[in-house]
Amino acid sequence: MIVTVCSVKGSPGASTLAVALAVADGWPQDVPPVMVEADPAGGDVSGWHAVADAPGLVTLAAQCRTGTATLAEHASRLACSAQVVVAPGGRPQATAAVELLAATDVRLWSQDRTVLVDAGRWHPLSPAAPLMTAADVLLVVVRGDAGALKQAADARLPGNAALVVVGETVFPASEISAVLGAPVIAGVPLDRHGAAVLCGARPPARGWRRVGLPAAARALAEALLTDAATRARLAQPVGGEWP
Ligand SMILES: Nc1ncnc2c1ncn2[C@@H]1O[C@H](COP(=O)(O)OP(=O)(O)O)[C@@H](O)[C@H]1O
Ligand SMILES: [Mg+2]
Repeated sequence: MIVTVCSVKGSPGASTLAVALAVADGWPQDVPPVMVEADPAGGDVSGWHAVADAPGLVTLAAQCRTGTATLAEHASRLACSAQVVVAPGGRPQATAAVELLAATDVRLWSQDRTVLVDAGRWHPLSPAAPLMTAADVLLVVVRGDAGALKQAADARLPGNAALVVVGETVFPASEISAVLGAPVIAGVPLDRHGAAVLCGARPPARGWRRVGLPAAARALAEALLTDAATRARLAQPVGGEWP
């Protein structure tokens, strides 16, 4: 299953949510999930967690050109326990690697694993667009305040898009869904502590995954896995029930 995470405008917390989903134990654990950082604007994770950017996206993209790919070989394990294929921090290097990866068949490197792709900002002409449209679900992260929602309106999101609203909102899901043109699949809380662990600014404390953002990410993972229910929800804008 490929779940791609992106933003529309600003910095609502797409990369942080992708790492949170990678540590969520709601996925099948026989083959642990891997996050692939594929933001053409440059990766954050190697800087956040002080890990080398090789192996990473560049080595994965190079291996894909040989016609085989073993995702786990290119992943780094973070202190928060996420396995991440990290992108170079610089835009030109990251864009080049994303272009190479996006030109491959996603099944070559995703195989039977749960793969979380951080594709940066949604735009139909983004070098990462194929990684967004080929995903089983494209999670579009937006903040819940009026200003952020207004900025995200009319983004012309693809058909596999589902919205994740970060923080409190006064707007019903049906309204958000109508304005942005995609169903709302989840709300996740503002959680300074959880975000700091996921961004490498704090060490993980005992039980940190049981509350806040990591707990919401786990619920989201479980919701995505209940395949039939998810597809049914994605097929029509949800109204009324706001998490
Ligand atoms: N749910 C959240 N609660 C509190 N802070 C968050 C949350 N998600 C992200 N942040 C913080 O917001 C900033 C931007 O997050 P990031 O994931 O890099 O955004 P994006 O990938 O959308 O640009 C980071 O400092 C991160 O720690
Ligand atoms: Mg990001």
